[in-house]
This record gives sequence, C-alpha cells and structure tokens, in this order.
Amino acid sequence: MERISKTLISREEIAEMVDRLGKQISEDYKGKDIVVVGILKGAAVFLADLIRKIDCPLILDFMQVSSYYNSTVSSGNVQIRKDLDYDISGKHVLIVEDIIDSGVTMQCLKRELFARNPESIKVCAAFDKPSRRKVDFKADYTGIEVPDEFIIGYGLDYAGRYRNLPDVCVLELDGGDK
Ligand code: IMP
Ligand code: MG
Repeated sequence: MERISKTLISREEIAEMVDRLGKQISEDYKGKDIVVVGILKGAAVFLADLIRKIDCPLILDFMQVSSYYNSTVSSGNVQIRKDLDYDISGKHVLIVEDIIDSGVTMQCLKRELFARNPESIKVCAAFDKPSRRKVDFKADYTGIEVPDEFIIGYGLDYAGRYRNLPDVCVLELDGGDK
C-alpha cells in the first residue's frame, strides 16, 4: 500500500502561484485571443483556477495524451487519446499541464501541435521536476519546482486517486527506499 508522508505545497502557496502565473499570462497576451488547451486529466484542477486569473478573451479545449520514451533515439512519441475540438491554425495556443517530469510528453505534444500551424504555442505547467528530465524541455510558465519525489493532489494522481486533495503531498510507495 501507499502512504501520504507529508504536505509539500500548501493550498495557500498554490493560490499564490496561480495568481502570479495568471497575471504574467494576462500581461503577455494583452490584446490577443488565446486557445487554452488543458491536458486531461491531471491539469483539470489547475486549469479551472488558472483561467479565472487570466484577463484575456479565451476559448477552452482539451486533449488527453500518453507518451512513450524511446531511449535509443532519445525522443518519444505521443498517442492522442482525445484530440482538440477546435482548429488551432493561426491561433495563439497555451497548453496547460499539471507537471513536467521527463519532458517527453510536452516535447512531443508541442511538435504535434506545431504541425497544425498555430500562430504561437506556449506551455504553462503547475509543477516542474527538472532533475528528472530525459529531453531538453522547458515550460514558458512554471509554477513551482519540486524535488524528485512522487507527488499527489491538486489534480495529480496515483492510480487515478488523490486528485481532489487541496494540498500537494508526497506519496511513499511500498518497497520504496524511504
Ligand atoms: P513526462 O512526459 O515524464 O514529463 O510526464 C509528465 C506526466 O507524468 C504528467 O502529466 C503526470 O501525469 C505524470 N507525473 C509525473 N510526475 C508525477 C508525480 O510526481 N505525480 C503524479 N503524476 C506525475
Ligand atoms: Mg498527466
């Protein structure tokens, strides 16, 4: 069984982070329309908070993807489980993701969406684990950096559970080294 070991990021810290990102995004996209693409399911909670802090006209769309890393070619592939409803050609696209870990998912997804000829694409991630990178990827907007631990809550899951926790917590797994 798994066990919640400690709170890593409080709901208050999360709220401040969302505020800061919302302000920055609103400034950067002033006078522009945005297509905000939420990555299901992990980004759902962050997305709901973030869009209410963005002060620009926007439409909301969703994708669900899974990625595979191929170490022999140092890259990966993304499988689209749910695609966008909107055509993004000529649009400013802002991808909203829960966490960047290896970086493979976002690198592949950005490549896939660039092929649809948007005006621009940026990525906003609530959390970032830079120590786990397998590919060179950096989000345009990053909320909070986290250490190399498995975290849950605020949309992040373990086996589909814990997404509803308001704080981000560290999960200890049986057979782990701690
Ligand atoms: P990446 O392609 O390795 O960057 O994968 C990122 C995805 O892995 C995220 O969208 C999450 O679904 C999942 N993930 C990575 N780290 C964690 C974690 O600590 N807790 C929960 N999910 C995670
Ligand atoms: Mg995810």
